[in-house]
Amino acid sequence: MKNGQQNTTSSFVKTFVWSRNIRLFHWLNVLSVLLLIIVGSIIYFASNLGISTNGKILLKTIHVSIGYIFAANLIFRILLGFIGKGFERWGQTLPFNKVFNQDLADFKQNKGKVYKGHNPMGKLMVGALMLSLSVQMVSGLVIAGTDIYYPPFGKYFASSIAQDKSQISIIKPYSKENVDANAYKEMRSVRKPFITAHVYSFYFLLLLIPLHILAVCLVERREKNSIVSSMIHGYKYLPKDKE
Ligand code: HEM
Repeated sequence: MKNGQQNTTSSFVKTFVWSRNIRLFHWLNVLSVLLLIIVGSIIYFASNLGISTNGKILLKTIHVSIGYIFAANLIFRILLGFIGKGFERWGQTLPFNKVFNQDLADFKQNKGKVYKGHNPMGKLMVGALMLSLSVQMVSGLVIAGTDIYYPPFGKYFASSIAQDKSQISIIKPYSKENVDANAYKEMRSVRKPFITAHVYSFYFLLLLIPLHILAVCLVERREKNSIVSSMIHGYKYLPKDKE
């Protein structure tokens, strides 16, 4: 049963909410973000851990490779918000529609409303998560270019620092071969705000993720609508009398 179709059993109404696209995005995002946090944290503490230069290059290569899967999945979700149906659409997901403020006020007063999609606090959380994930994606793709000269900007940055522009392929991470020292310095100053954004957005995510998990558990208790398992099979069980 799809697209909000309902199946009545006892005092609950089984309602289809999360499409296969949303669920696939969600779990691939969970997995890739978890791996990125683990590998990113090792990169963050690489010097304290005594990791060699080759080890750092390997870690960054692994991190960026997972980052591409994460980025492709996130771009897919962003597009789905514009071209998808029902709860895939941004209008149903982000806290920007006309009635949002009223919805939030009702939610705070706990008027017992049951939400098929996200409740207003959930929309705020999705907005914050999406913003932070997008910052990670954009900043990550830029620093992948300045650090290990990986696509999409690697060739551009390698060429910007090359002494001999016809020998770009000999420029390697952490090597000074064919690198113009001044151009390298300039490239590192372009990189600086992106690495700062990557690190601060990482801290923000470390705060948001446990909050998101806690909020979902609290909503499960408050609304009793199977919100946790709905992200696996797509259905929420809404109380009939609150329909
Ligand atoms: C949720 C997603 C992500 C998280 C949580 C994350 C986290 C981190 C962390 C904690 C670091 C260490 C920062 C430091 O050493 O100062 C890092 C470094 C890095 N990340 Fe990510 N990252 C994410 C996504 C991405 C993506 C999508 C890419 C590119 C495809 C990327 C590319 C890089 C690169 C190249 C570095 C090395 C920067 C350095 O020299 O320290 N990251 N990331």
